[in-house]
Amino acid sequence: MTDPGSHSIGEYLISSRSMAEYRAMFALGDSDLTGKVLDCPGGGSSFTASAHELGVDAVAVDPVYRRSAAKIAERAVEEVSRGSDWIRANVEKFRWDFYGDPEGHQRMRRESAEKFAADIAAHPDRYRAGALPRLPFADDTFDLVLSSHLLFTYADRLDCRFHIAALRELARVAKGSVRVFPLVDQAGEAVDELLPPALVELESLGLRPRVQALDYEFQCGADAMLAFDAS
Ligand SMILES: C[S@@+](CC[C@H](N)C(=O)[O-])C[C@H]1O[C@@H](n2cnc3c(N)ncnc32)[C@H](O)[C@@H]1O
Repeated sequence: MTDPGSHSIGEYLISSRSMAEYRAMFALGDSDLTGKVLDCPGGGSSFTASAHELGVDAVAVDPVYRRSAAKIAERAVEEVSRGSDWIRANVEKFRWDFYGDPEGHQRMRRESAEKFAADIAAHPDRYRAGALPRLPFADDTFDLVLSSHLLFTYADRLDCRFHIAALRELARVAKGSVRVFPLVDQAGEAVDELLPPALVELESLGLRPRVQALDYEFQCGADAMLAFDAS
């Protein structure tokens, strides 16, 4: 149950960001969207559906995909209201230039959840059950690995050890770029106990992590992604 006034959204939100949001959060151009792409966690996002429309071999992974496609689809659509309630209760923590207003945001998420629901029903093979820090893929499988709104976002329940193991796992399954967004927690607070040690770990693995500024900022302070090349 979400308490909109609290620092935490409660249970993991099965959110449904769209391709437009993924392009903005991860600074994706058309040239990035080629080959095999992993969305982890996929949640209720329509990124995978939209990527396939562009001819990209995208796969989404999330622990919720253990449930039936019908149940997940229903839940993703319901979760749009829970996410919107949270945003309306914390409206001062967000910037509105990308979405216009809370109604515009909710509309985009609802359309995205509906697209996800249709896609998981038609193409269940694109949605694999799995959870960080152990993914069901071989080493060097993906040209691009995207991870939105799990790492750093849920700093209230995922510790530094988890973050380091998860980032190592994303690097293991990637042969190209790995991108992670956002770099703040649910309340928009800096994650000083997580990000610096994660950067040190990636550096020690020779992965040359960088914090890259973005043109996109919805949650105040969430204006950069973590990026590194696994190859
Ligand atoms: C806020 S959603 C993000 C979904 C999508 N990336 C988006 O931006 O719309 C967070 C997702 O993380 C998933 N999750 C929770 N624990 C996880 C884990 N250990 N590994 C992978 N995904 C996890 C949840 O099931 C939920 O769908």
